[in-house]
Amino acid sequence: MKTLISIAIDGFSACGKSTLAKDLASMLDYNYIDSGAMYRALTYFAIKNNLISANFFHKNLLINKMEELDIGFVLDENDKNCITLNNNNIEDKIRSIEVSNFVSKIAEIHEVREKMVKIQRELGENKAIVMDGRDIGSVVFPDAELKLFVTADIDVRTKRRLLELKNKNIVVNFEEVKKNLIERDFLDSHRKDSPLIQVEDAIVLDNSNLTKEEQLIIAHNLALNKINS
Ligand code: CDP
Repeated sequence: MKTLISIAIDGFSACGKSTLAKDLASMLDYNYIDSGAMYRALTYFAIKNNLISANFFHKNLLINKMEELDIGFVLDENDKNCITLNNNNIEDKIRSIEVSNFVSKIAEIHEVREKMVKIQRELGENKAIVMDGRDIGSVVFPDAELKLFVTADIDVRTKRRLLELKNKNIVVNFEEVKKNLIERDFLDSHRKDSPLIQVEDAIVLDNSNLTKEEQLIIAHNLALNKINS
C-alpha cells in the first residue's frame, strides 16, 4: 500500500498557496483544504450580522455566536471544494475586499483559532491531505511529512490577486489590494496566537519567477520523495 502523507503549505497573502495546494492535491489524489476560507467564512458571518465594521467590533458576541456555527466543506457539481456555513455554500461570498479587510482581526482571536484548528485536525486525521494557511506546519500539523513555505514579491502577489478578483468580476485597484496584503501580512506575522512563521523544517519556495506549472512540478517532486522514502 502507498504511504499517505500530510502536506502543509504556509506563506504570505496571495502568494499562490491555494493554487499550488489544490493542484498538488489533485495530482496526488489527496484532499485539499483551504484553511483561510474558514476564517473568511466566519468574517463574512460577522460582517453580515453587524458584529464588525470599521467603527466597532463586538468580539465577545462573535465568540458566543460561534457556538451555533457549523463551518465545513462540500464538493460542488464541478468537484470544487466549497466552504459552507451552516450547510450553505458561501464560497462565492468570501473573497471580497471587505472580507479581506477584516479577516486578520478575526483570525487573531484565540477562541476562533481553537475552533478552526480542531476542525482542521479532524479533516486531516487520515492523512492524504494538502492544507494551506498560515499555521499549518507550525500548529495544525506540526508532524506533517512535507512543509512548504511559499513566498513571492509583493507586486507580483498584488498583480496575481487583482487578476483573480477581476476574473470573479470583483472590481478593485492595485493600491487597495497591495495595502490589504501588506496589512494582513503584518497582522498575521505579529499576532500572539500562532503567528505566520517559517518553521525550521519547512522548504522555502519563492515563486516570484515561477509559473504555476513550474511550482507544481517542484512541489510534486518533493512530495514524491517523501512518499517514497
Ligand atoms: O488567499 P489569501 O492568501 O489572501 O488568504 P487566505 O488563505 O484566504 O487567508 C485569509 C486570512 O485568514 C489570512 O490573512 C489570515 O489572517 C487568516 N488565516 C489564518 O490566520 N490562519 C490560517 N491557517 C489561514 C488563514
